[in-house]
Amino acid sequence: MAESAAAPHPAPHSGGAEVTKRDFLKLVAGAGAAVGVGAIVWPMIDSMNPAADVLALSSTTVDLSPIVAGQAITVVWRGKPVFVRHRTPTEIEEARAADKLRLPDPATDASRVKPGHDQWLIVVGICTHLGCVPLGNRSTEVRGEYGGWFCPCHGSEYDTSGRVRRGPAPANLPVPPYAFEGDTKIKIG
Ligand code: FES
Repeated sequence: MAESAAAPHPAPHSGGAEVTKRDFLKLVAGAGAAVGVGAIVWPMIDSMNPAADVLALSSTTVDLSPIVAGQAITVVWRGKPVFVRHRTPTEIEEARAADKLRLPDPATDASRVKPGHDQWLIVVGICTHLGCVPLGNRSTEVRGEYGGWFCPCHGSEYDTSGRVRRGPAPANLPVPPYAFEGDTKIKIG
């Protein structure tokens, strides 16, 4: 960034205009890289996909015990980011209260979690609009008005049940197939 603020110093054998042009190109490339960070996350994850025969068998086991209420982690399952969120009692209440509202993609909160494990919400972390990875899995990230996740690409907002509440996303964050193996362990896939 310091480069962009400093005046260019022409090399003895090159014209000032040439150096300025070169620096401008460097700046443009820098700006492109900054804007592109969000967009390249998904293709990078996707490119780590194993072969199809491995995919067919793959599953991901997650130890839930270190995840405290209010916290979430991201794990990779079949090359996709999956959000594993330990919801607080307030977040569960908010999700249940919204069951009665007219939702863009109607689903009750209970239908999106496992019975007896209301505090755990497991969703595929890919925006259903155009595939960006929404923000909000880290507590320091913006979560949007509904307290779930916020997609910075076009402003879709998801609630604490992973249901879309606002923006162009047409559907809720999908719940992947998973099962509890004891109270503090899940197997996704
Ligand atoms: S990709 Fe998320 S709102 Fe467009």
